[in-house]
Amino acid sequence: MMDLFDAIGSDPRDVQLAPGAMLLGGFARAFETPLIEAVRAIVQRAPFRHLVTPGGHRMSVAMTNCGAVGWVSDRTGYRYDAIDPDSGQPWPPMPDVFTRLAHEAAAKVGFADFRPEACLINRYEPGAKLSLHQDKDELDFAHPIVSVSLGLPATFLFGGMNRSDKTTRYRLTHGDVVVWGGPSRLAYHGVLPLPDGEHPLLGRQRINLTFRKTR
Ligand code: SIN
Ligand code: FE2
Repeated sequence: MMDLFDAIGSDPRDVQLAPGAMLLGGFARAFETPLIEAVRAIVQRAPFRHLVTPGGHRMSVAMTNCGAVGWVSDRTGYRYDAIDPDSGQPWPPMPDVFTRLAHEAAAKVGFADFRPEACLINRYEPGAKLSLHQDKDELDFAHPIVSVSLGLPATFLFGGMNRSDKTTRYRLTHGDVVVWGGPSRLAYHGVLPLPDGEHPLLGRQRINLTFRKTR
């Protein structure tokens, strides 16, 4: 039987953002059903919550995780933790479809052998945003970040190595995947406040999956 992955080729919507950084237009679309089912199952065990930053600010994006470790923030700082602080239990395991999608997307951009053990799941409701930041809580920057967008469209900002560098805006829609690594691994990025809307599968929200190799 033909595998869904065999159907993936290069898409006219693919865009290079910078060296080592690509937007793979619609790359995850063929997996929307298993991806959304898996997110629903994860959220039953590890519900979305609004984390607090070390500075005491409640994040507008709600988060949860799956995989061996999950990204958490609280008054003491940011860290990867094997235990969900809300439940005291390990995070739900990473579903195979997640691991495989992240691996294939990274490979397509030239990062072989990407085997993430952490997936941060972000939920944006209308108005939620993510300020410019670097993903730098991982131990080894040789591995890329793979980010999968589902649901409502958002504007993604992608800049340079300094917060003050010029950013470029990209519209991310349902099924888009962004991979950044190599010379772009520590690029500043963020998401503008989510416009309201109604997505046929996910309603009034955007879900983003961010895969990382943390150690
Ligand atoms: C992130 O930077 O962790 C998420 C980016 C996104 O939601 O597209
Ligand atoms: Fe990030």
